[in-house]
Amino acid sequence: MCADVTQTPLACVLLAAGKGTRMKSSRPKVMHKLAGQPMINRLLNTVEQLKPDRIITVVGPDMDDVTEAVKPHKTVIQKKRLGTGDALKTALSELKGFKGDVLILLGDAPLITLPTLRGLIQARHGHDKVGMAVLGTHLKKPKGYGRMILGPDSFLKKIVEEKDASPEEKRYTLINTGTFCVESDRLEKWVSKISNNNAQNEYYITDLPVIADQEDDVKTTVSICDDPNEVRGINSRRQLAELEMIIQNQLRDQAMEDGATLRDPQTVYFSFDTKLGQDVIVEPHVCFGPNVIIGDNVHILSFTHLEGAHIEQNVSIGPFARIRPDSHIKQGARIGNFVEVKKSTIGAGAKANHLSYIGDAELGDHVNFSAGAITVNYDGFQKHKTVIGEHVMIGCNANLVAPVQIGNGAYVAAGSTITEDVPENALSVARNRPIIRDGWATKRRKMKKEVS
Ligand code: UD1
Ligand code: MG
Repeated sequence: MCADVTQTPLACVLLAAGKGTRMKSSRPKVMHKLAGQPMINRLLNTVEQLKPDRIITVVGPDMDDVTEAVKPHKTVIQKKRLGTGDALKTALSELKGFKGDVLILLGDAPLITLPTLRGLIQARHGHDKVGMAVLGTHLKKPKGYGRMILGPDSFLKKIVEEKDASPEEKRYTLINTGTFCVESDRLEKWVSKISNNNAQNEYYITDLPVIADQEDDVKTTVSICDDPNEVRGINSRRQLAELEMIIQNQLRDQAMEDGATLRDPQTVYFSFDTKLGQDVIVEPHVCFGPNVIIGDNVHILSFTHLEGAHIEQNVSIGPFARIRPDSHIKQGARIGNFVEVKKSTIGAGAKANHLSYIGDAELGDHVNFSAGAITVNYDGFQKHKTVIGEHVMIGCNANLVAPVQIGNGAYVAAGSTITEDVPENALSVARNRPIIRDGWATKRRKMKKEVS
């Protein structure tokens, strides 16, 4: 398949084998999440839109989770982390017979966008002498990045890594983002010439421009990305947090552009896949985990946490509500403060306004689930279901011991522990009758006074 910008076939190589030592983590760096999504998947989603012929991800020997995350695309294992140049060399086995452009991306720079990648591919085709394009950007504080040094012909002369740079080179602000587009014909030859003669004794992919020039008089052009945030790499937890903020701000802007009101945008946290309807109002301090769909005119009050939930239109949730995965809240329902809903359906117009736990349950339309009522869904071994019909009134502090069914229109008295099914329109009371002793309190007070 050809890249969607040129008629040239395209292969993509994602470098993701690095240990991410600076993250101080037992998890591969590219599996750390941004807006709830592993960074490698974010990059992959962007790259897939170029419709490349193949996508190859270079992983380390102990990175089964990365291999799993990029499926159905192929992975190759870089046995020893000898540098980005060596990682690319490992991928060559999967590029045998491929003729076209090879787009190389760093797994730890996941915010890159489709237009930027298209621009880079186009730049590689901009001139007869050009066989490679590298994406650069200007940074006020370029520390840590490879610096790009241009020749008088304005082609790229070389890239110098921070650790190998002279004080003068360190002052350059045009940095290497690590994204390359290279013609495949001589790639194998150029990669074989990369040496590890540098400060880190690593094989640097950044040596390719010099090698291509020396070997074949092939020039490298620089494509500039105007938004440095897009190409920032993640090497530390601090940078992970910085990129998270960039994504969150993008998601907040998008939500508002799509017609949601965020009363204090900076305090609302979205997942990469949150879907909001129109005229949704999100009050301050709300957190969306993955896989949440919100219908029109929903009001989400402060300190609410949602994940894996489908909320239909005209629903009100919170403040202080927790909606957990596999929850479906139907139109017009109200979920109030300190209510937790898990793997449950809440019927249209139903209410659980205060202090409830609803787990593994089906609540019919217009059920009233009063303050303190809970489903007792776990017997210490298994989870069981509670099924409640329509227009049922569950009184305060009721315990519904599952498996249990409450028929349409039934009443469960406050304070009841229900262990048997309740028929339609019946009243179920399961509590002791009160004992009233007239004057008991007066007598007691008197007795206590006499003693003291
Ligand atoms: C790299 C570039 C630097 C650039 C910066 C942009 C090199 C030598 N340096 O530096 O010029 O400014 O990215 O963010 O390329 N990886 C492997 N195998 C390895 C080593 C790394 O697959 O043996 C992968 C890592 O998983 C990572 C990516 O390559 O996703 C970049 O590696 P990293 O060590 O983060 O390079 P930087 O020091 O950031
Ligand atoms: Mg990096």
